[in-house]
Amino acid sequence: MRVTFEPQGVCVSVTAGTTLLQAQITAGLRPDAPCGGKGTCGKCRAVLDGQEILTCQTAVDRDMTVTLPGGRQEAVLTVGTAVSVRPDGTDRYVLALDVGTTTLAAYLLDGRTGTLLASASALNPQRQYGADVISRIQYTLEHGGDALQNCVREALVSLTERMTEEAGISPFEITAAAAAGNTAMHHLLLGIAPDSLVTPPYMPQVSEALEAEGLLPISGKIRMLPNIAGFVGGDTAACMTAVRFGELEELTLLIDIGTNGEMVLGNRERRIACSTAAGPAFEGAKISCGMRGAEGAVDHVTLKNGEIVYHVIGGGKAVGLCGSGLLDLTAVLLETGHIDESGFLEGGEYCLNGSAVTLTQQDVRETQLAKAAIRAGIELLAQKLGRTVGEIQTVYLAGAFGNYLNPASACRIGMLPPCLEGRIVPIGNAAGEGAKLCALSREAYLYSQTLARDTEFLELASLPQFQDCYVDALLFSEDEDDLV
Ligand code: FES
Repeated sequence: MRVTFEPQGVCVSVTAGTTLLQAQITAGLRPDAPCGGKGTCGKCRAVLDGQEILTCQTAVDRDMTVTLPGGRQEAVLTVGTAVSVRPDGTDRYVLALDVGTTTLAAYLLDGRTGTLLASASALNPQRQYGADVISRIQYTLEHGGDALQNCVREALVSLTERMTEEAGISPFEITAAAAAGNTAMHHLLLGIAPDSLVTPPYMPQVSEALEAEGLLPISGKIRMLPNIAGFVGGDTAACMTAVRFGELEELTLLIDIGTNGEMVLGNRERRIACSTAAGPAFEGAKISCGMRGAEGAVDHVTLKNGEIVYHVIGGGKAVGLCGSGLLDLTAVLLETGHIDESGFLEGGEYCLNGSAVTLTQQDVRETQLAKAAIRAGIELLAQKLGRTVGEIQTVYLAGAFGNYLNPASACRIGMLPPCLEGRIVPIGNAAGEGAKLCALSREAYLYSQTLARDTEFLELASLPQFQDCYVDALLFSEDEDDLV
């Protein structure tokens, strides 16, 4: 049976019973399917015969023409701050890759000077199999890992070729590379079965740093950054490398908030890492009007003279709320009293004036779950180190969400301890920066391995106090600073 997707005008033949989502994937359209096709996220909406449908829940039973919503330009954060490194100078061209669950970022560097020659980014095409790593692992367990490995490899090849073309060189002139990704991205890229990540004791199949060959059409091997634990991967090792965590004197918290919140607390003497299941709320999934930070997303909300005002990316009509907007709106509604300390939203729904963007009671609950997971992680890491959160001198926020969020809102809703508000430093795409350092310098790559090996891992769920701390962190109370 033939399915035609508009406005792209792409046709594909599929057998009866195939879902429209699967047909879209077969047609190479790379649909957004945050829940992996379970019918729960509502992000695969399309129009069929004048009716709104979910493509993942609609089976092909005849020739069909489906209208897909327009794609929106999404900004990918490729810039970050990192300490500099002395390049080995033995390679003329080097490549650094940040393999994120949501986005891929690639950098082509002059191996002798460290100068950035080109950069390129794209959404991770694996998102058609689910927004979060668990959905993708689930897909791999049911269907094998080839589809996920191939699509991400193809995307990385195309990013590499885009950059080499821009720089006027051949990809084969690249003689060194490094890649950082979380454990699931690491395993899926290398074709390693990810089963162990979702079964107790949730450890990676491969943790050690390794140099991969044959993944990309380049001459050098790819230095894969080491994993630390089940859900603390090479991306965290890369972030730690970027800030030279092993040399920090002050008590420092490094946080990368995505679907999981990975964090490390410590200094040069001792470091402990953990991962919290923050869920994809801050990436737009599970929130009724949630979306990623693309055109049309409300990214900032403030209170001016008692009025709620907001900013829309691209300046046009507001169509949804991205993570930083969600955080701000929640904080503002706490200020105005629309939301109380328990998370109760007056009237069950709040509509952002002059737009169709609403925040529902369920959205507030999802926000509470996400922020409590992060807060509980911070509190329990501090407790494990025998310190209080008030002793933390610097909070490095890595990643896109960390870069765009308003620290005051993060503290107002209690995602971060309020006492840390003035100590928050966004460091942009630190995982990408760490990968660059490791591509340019073998010393940096060895350093990332030392950091990974010497960082302890705390399994939060195994702690008896986790549940109580998490439940306390669900509240939006203003004055508590230490929850444990
Ligand atoms: S509801 Fe269809 S992909 Fe989530």
